[in-house]
Amino acid sequence: MTEHTGEGLSPTARESSGILGLGKSGGQRSAEMLAGIRAELMPKPEYVAMTRTAGRIIGNFLLRLARGDHAKLNVVIARPEGFRYLISQILHDKPEAHFVELATGFLPRGWQLAKAFPKLQVTEIDLPEVITEKQNRFQRAKLTLPPNLKMLKADLGVTPLSEVLGTNKADIISAEGLLIYFSLDKIQQIADGVRQALKEGGVFIADMGTKETLQELGKGQARQAIGIFRRNAGNWIGVADDPAHAQALFKAVGYAQVETYKMPELAERLPHVPKPVANATLFVIARNG
Ligand SMILES: C[S@@+](CC[C@H](N)C(=O)[O-])C[C@H]1O[C@@H](n2cnc3c(N)ncnc32)[C@H](O)[C@@H]1O
Repeated sequence: MTEHTGEGLSPTARESSGILGLGKSGGQRSAEMLAGIRAELMPKPEYVAMTRTAGRIIGNFLLRLARGDHAKLNVVIARPEGFRYLISQILHDKPEAHFVELATGFLPRGWQLAKAFPKLQVTEIDLPEVITEKQNRFQRAKLTLPPNLKMLKADLGVTPLSEVLGTNKADIISAEGLLIYFSLDKIQQIADGVRQALKEGGVFIADMGTKETLQELGKGQARQAIGIFRRNAGNWIGVADDPAHAQALFKAVGYAQVETYKMPELAERLPHVPKPVANATLFVIARNG
């Protein structure tokens, strides 16, 4: 287990006030709320194991507040499924790859992939308090961690990923629900650190906000639930003007090829994801070399 502290802390890693029982930092609270909502919507054993009671209660409350706004509720399923689809496409040709999941939170995706692809090397990274808690939850639920799954603790707003991973470069790096909490300058700094931690031809898969997604999330029945989520998770400041702007931000730090998909576009490729799906985030697929 490696611990990286750095000099200061990112805003999402600092102690701040929020709903009691969901954690001290905005980062931990965001992970708890998502895990709670997910387990309420999809009560698979590994999703339930990744929650605590307070997270389930808040998740249930937020779902009730958003009731009827199916397009926004479906986002909770569409986003992780969109990432799973994009990651799986690459793994299909590279089952022995090194996959790094940044801001893993309480998602059991790394665990699922490590079990499904025994030759895959999986590294999950999040804030120290989240990783410690996640390990405890796996242990409590008696879910054995496969030998090809490693968890590292780091504040990625402070410590560049290339420093966290050292020489162990990655083929795929994902960041689900992370970039929106950082300014555009900081997003470029993180994306640059990610690029340096990727092998030649490696791919960074992330999502971020745009003016359009922010506008969409600010209306409809789910508005109040989203407001509570934002107040507890942290400010959404990583907002590009539009997909072309998002692509330019990544190209400017050296990515050779950048594609973007609005959430409803990607959801069209996922027949099992319930529709409609709101335009809630922009998927970015950035290739190194
Ligand atoms: C919205 S949650 C998403 C969690 C998970 N990917 C999911 O979809 O359920 C954001 C995650 O980013 C992590 N995070 C926030 N700031 C971070 C930082 N500076 N360094 C590392 N992780 C961070 C949080 O701890 C949290 O797990």
